[in-house]
Amino acid sequence: MKYIGLDVGNGSICLCVRTESGQGYSDVYPSVYGVYNAKAQAVQAQKSKMNRIDNVFSFENKDYVLGYDNVQAAAATPISAYDREDRISRREFQTLTKLALIDAATRDGSTDVIEVELGIGTPAEDYREETIEALHKWFADPIVGRKNGKQVVIMVKKLEIISQPVAVLMDRYVDDEGYVQDETLEDGKSLVIDCGSGTMDMTVFDGLIIIEQISEPIGMNDVYRALMQEIQRINPKVRPNTYEVERQVREQSGSDKLIYTFGQAEPINLTEQRKDIMDDAWQQMLGAITQRFPDRLQFNHIYLAGGTGDAFWSYFLEWSPKNPRIELLEDPQLAIARGLRKYVLANTQEVTV
Ligand SMILES: Nc1ncnc2c1ncn2[C@@H]1O[C@H](COP(=O)(O)OP(=O)(O)OP(=O)(O)O)[C@@H](O)[C@H]1O
Ligand SMILES: [Mg+2]
Repeated sequence: MKYIGLDVGNGSICLCVRTESGQGYSDVYPSVYGVYNAKAQAVQAQKSKMNRIDNVFSFENKDYVLGYDNVQAAAATPISAYDREDRISRREFQTLTKLALIDAATRDGSTDVIEVELGIGTPAEDYREETIEALHKWFADPIVGRKNGKQVVIMVKKLEIISQPVAVLMDRYVDDEGYVQDETLEDGKSLVIDCGSGTMDMTVFDGLIIIEQISEPIGMNDVYRALMQEIQRINPKVRPNTYEVERQVREQSGSDKLIYTFGQAEPINLTEQRKDIMDDAWQQMLGAITQRFPDRLQFNHIYLAGGTGDAFWSYFLEWSPKNPRIELLEDPQLAIARGLRKYVLANTQEVTV
């Protein structure tokens, strides 16, 4: 049995897996896939040396690659599932999720029949009966596919669907083995902030129960979009895309400078712009938070998750340095997937204890 937490976000896919023997692995990559075509890839291979494709997944008689690097190496058209509204009914989102599951289940080299217990999170506002029902249908039958030509059959033995903020709280509440690690969460009020690529979700818990939930459409994508505009303003010949901007920003995230490079063009120094854009985005986030929660002292705990949360950590800490001191979850982008995986395991422990 494998215990899998899968978080297919607008911007990234996060997977967190624990095998029967207790080993774990996890990964994060851009939430995008492409149709693999061996001919197109061969042409691309001649043009560029950076053309290694990690894996080819086959599913419903089509071949696919996953993640932006592979899509680029395959010279495929990126297909994303970037859509907040009604994602569940979108074919692309379903394909992406199933491909990500095949990927997650086979990372340790397993093929053939793989039994899994799977945890999936929905945005809090989508946590409704029809969404849950639709997701159950996706995994009712075995997922049959191939990885690099080898047959893979994934049997979802148990499916747990919880809302994403609950998964974040679970990550903090339960340890890797699925046992309660911090009982203090059971009492008092917690605020969970999940800052993703497109949205900032704020969820208030009374103990472990959600009592309030709000989403604001702001995240790292706004930062990347503003940087893209700056790049084009400075040099209209440079045609950046968000993936490329994201990659370069991430590569230089620890640096006090941000230099954007594009082929032979003169490198563009975006250091000042990055600071101004981040400051502006933070003002918007802070506005949204303080408008809703003018009194942060009402909370016993404040937890921060999500990739954008990581990027804005210093701002958040300045906002809530104590009483309570905001806590950045470990590897915050992975918090949902990890929480889902822990939740699945915790439920299993309950049965076996
Ligand atoms: N340390 C970091 N510094 C800067 N940006 C980061 C960092 N870690 C992650 N990111 C950015 O965070 C974003 C993804 O965050 P996350 O995975 O939480 O979003 P998502 O779940 O895909 O989006 P949403 O929740 O809106 O559906 C990406 O834009 C990524 O570039
Ligand atoms: Mg998210």
